[in-house]
Amino acid sequence: MLFKEHTLSIIKPDAVAKNIIGSIINRFETSGLSVIEAKMLKLTYIQASEFYSEHQKKSFFESLINFIISGPIFIQILAGNNSIQRNREIMGATNPKHALAGTIRSDYGYDCTKNAIHGSDSKISAIREIHYFFNT
Ligand code: RTP
Ligand code: MG
Repeated sequence: MLFKEHTLSIIKPDAVAKNIIGSIINRFETSGLSVIEAKMLKLTYIQASEFYSEHQKKSFFESLINFIISGPIFIQILAGNNSIQRNREIMGATNPKHALAGTIRSDYGYDCTKNAIHGSDSKISAIREIHYFFNT
């Protein structure tokens, strides 16, 4: 059954620096997702470590944190039917080289770290991540 839900999306520093915020938002809108809240932030090391705490023990943690704090990010809440799964489909695989053609990461990502975009991966993550950045 289809139902409206919310998910958190972050346009990462590589994509912001490439001046493609609008192009990425256009992908969401043409896929039936709506931006219902948004803001631009530059995270501190502590904020980024808290946000990505699930990856604390991973080998790529330090490079992930240093990348995500390297410049401003554009954070948004997306709404739409099955938005969590839909957004993941539009994003494509974590590694842009493995992402399906036509996905955001395939078109705009560079490597596993500089992969243009973040999206919540489950309902529990979406709730936690939305509350991390927005008072909703
Ligand atoms: P995201 O959380 O950013 O939406 O990405 P994801 O679910 O597709 O991937 P996840 O496993 O949650 O990893 C989070 C972010 O960590 C970086 N990463 N680097 N092998 C690596 O070097 C590696 N693996 C993951 C990426 O920036 C990934 O988006
Ligand atoms: Mg993830």
